[in-house]
Amino acid sequence: MPAWLTLNDLALTAEGALDPATWAYFSGGAADEITLRDNAAAWQALRLWPRVLRPLAGGHTRTQLGCHALPHPILLAPVAHQQLAHPDGEWASALAAAAQGAGFVLATQSNVPMERIAESVLADPGRGPLWFQLYWQADRGFNRALVQRAEAAGFEAIVLTVDAPVQGLRDRELRAGFALPPGVRAVHLPHAPHAPTAPDTYCAGLPAHAPTWSDLAWLQAQTRLPVWLKGVLHPLDARQAQALQVAGLIVSNHGGRALDTAPPTAQALPLVRDAVGREMPLIVDGGIRRGTDVLKAIALGAQAVMIGRPVVHALAAGGPLAVARTIRLLRDELEMAMALTGCRTLGDAGPALLDPTLSADNAKKPYHHDWD
Ligand code: FNR
Ligand code: LAC
Repeated sequence: MPAWLTLNDLALTAEGALDPATWAYFSGGAADEITLRDNAAAWQALRLWPRVLRPLAGGHTRTQLGCHALPHPILLAPVAHQQLAHPDGEWASALAAAAQGAGFVLATQSNVPMERIAESVLADPGRGPLWFQLYWQADRGFNRALVQRAEAAGFEAIVLTVDAPVQGLRDRELRAGFALPPGVRAVHLPHAPHAPTAPDTYCAGLPAHAPTWSDLAWLQAQTRLPVWLKGVLHPLDARQAQALQVAGLIVSNHGGRALDTAPPTAQALPLVRDAVGREMPLIVDGGIRRGTDVLKAIALGAQAVMIGRPVVHALAAGGPLAVARTIRLLRDELEMAMALTGCRTLGDAGPALLDPTLSADNAKKPYHHDWD
């Protein structure tokens, strides 16, 4: 019997394997952790209304995300400093993602150079998309160089994270006295500060360099890669991003690590979907821990989901094999949830799965195309 059977068990195993300060860095959220708790609670609070006696033969979890055809809708979110969890860091999680056909988003603050990840993953015919997450840096030329480096290495999209112009108030982390150990470096940012920023410098430094909509447009002009925005919650921001023809949006509150009391993503997702119409690709993350959560996200209009903390929990608990098993587990749970709700494909999961008062006729059509 493995030590863990669910993603929540996995967190407990990881807590036992990590020192308390590193555990606080990975698992904590901002301030009172209200958004952190709400993320998971909001998925849990939704009720699935199962349909019975529907044909399930030939069912599958395939989906389309922009130009990528995916075997299932699960991606690994960008998570900084994965060597804190395992000596192979992001290299281990990227290989596990590829082995399971899951998309992988490499963080700017990776401990492994992007070229090493790309070399190891790109030749795998079963891999998912490989994207690079950009934290905007003060110098435009540096941003251009980083993005062009990712392009040259073979990354397939840029994900610009926009919800953290400053780091959130990480009280749990501060209390635990977390600091990066000397050997763990953000290799793409040789001059970046290593310690968490002291609270009295928050407003003096970082926000002056935070990106704006015009920086986004500039960035799009520097690369032929599609640019996604990560960290959009407000429907009006979603519209503004759509007007700039971003490739897609990641509805996210940074896993409750940036603005505390921001809405849970399960609440924001349907509003964003309504604001942008049916065609814009949407990914959602934050508190997704069960196959039923994935199915609910699809029913609310996402094409795919990302998981963050479970990746580093798995790395700490059992290295790359545990990351692969985590993806597989979530996918298996999704398939079971689909069968139990009468969804043969993800195209069958629409708003009526969560609201039985939407009859088959007047239910808004599922957002998902049926990709058969
Ligand atoms: C993150 N996240 C994040 N996001 C990002 O765009 N760049 C980054 O470098 C990081 N780093 C990071 C470190 C750690 C330790 C965590 C837990 C998270 C946010 C991440 O991409 C994602 O949005 C959330 O983790 C999703 O929520 P869950 O799945 O962790 O609940
Ligand atoms: C974090 C930053 C790195 O959430 O995004 O820790």
